[in-house]
Amino acid sequence: MGFGVTYSGDKKARTTLVLATTNNGKVEEFKLLLTDFDVEIKGLREFGPIPAIKEDGKTFEENAVKKASLTAKALGLPVLADDSGLVVKALDGRPGVRSARYGGSSDRENNLKLLKEMEGIQDREAYFMCVIAISAPNGSTLVYQGKCDGVITDELTGSNGFGYDPLFYYPPLKKTFAQLTTEEKNRVSHRGRAMAGLRSEFNKILVWLKQKTTLD
Ligand code: IMP
Repeated sequence: MGFGVTYSGDKKARTTLVLATTNNGKVEEFKLLLTDFDVEIKGLREFGPIPAIKEDGKTFEENAVKKASLTAKALGLPVLADDSGLVVKALDGRPGVRSARYGGSSDRENNLKLLKEMEGIQDREAYFMCVIAISAPNGSTLVYQGKCDGVITDELTGSNGFGYDPLFYYPPLKKTFAQLTTEEKNRVSHRGRAMAGLRSEFNKILVWLKQKTTLD
């Protein structure tokens, strides 16, 4: 039996997929999204401590791939990691990979810094980006991406969601992300789109992971 594959009574193999996060909310969200598939999702909290992984990549993809592949090698199990953020054209791509800690550590500090940097700027084009990486225990990695185009508003609007949602206006729905319900946001968001790509290939991904785990 290879690592990451558990056998139930009927000898049918069930793949374990570890999410490279200690955030239980994120684990529950992914469990729900992958509920129709034959996979056991676990969070990092279910394992002992592993060496910290520095998110020092220049792109979302570099960070997601680094997190997924190093965690997979450390645990000897298949791992999924994601990285996401906001890219603003007039700010040379900022906040970008530093989205989570751009103006401090809270959403409010980040939003206020973005509003300040955008003062007097006409071109308010921006996009959210999400990259999901899935790694086999040997570090081989598949990547899925989702992007969502929008416009930075000049004041905070709406109270749903998190992060930069109150400043991100989505023209097709004529609302900011913070004015959408979770379901409405998931249908169009960068994360929703990356997840749709992943879900559409997930059965193939499970076969790929099983081959990698048994052969290596
Ligand atoms: P991550 O958890 O390292 O992917 O960091 C993502 C950061 O980007 C978050 O802390 C938010 O500031 C921002 N971000 C990513 N996705 C969203 C979103 O859907 N809405 C608002 N902000 C987001």
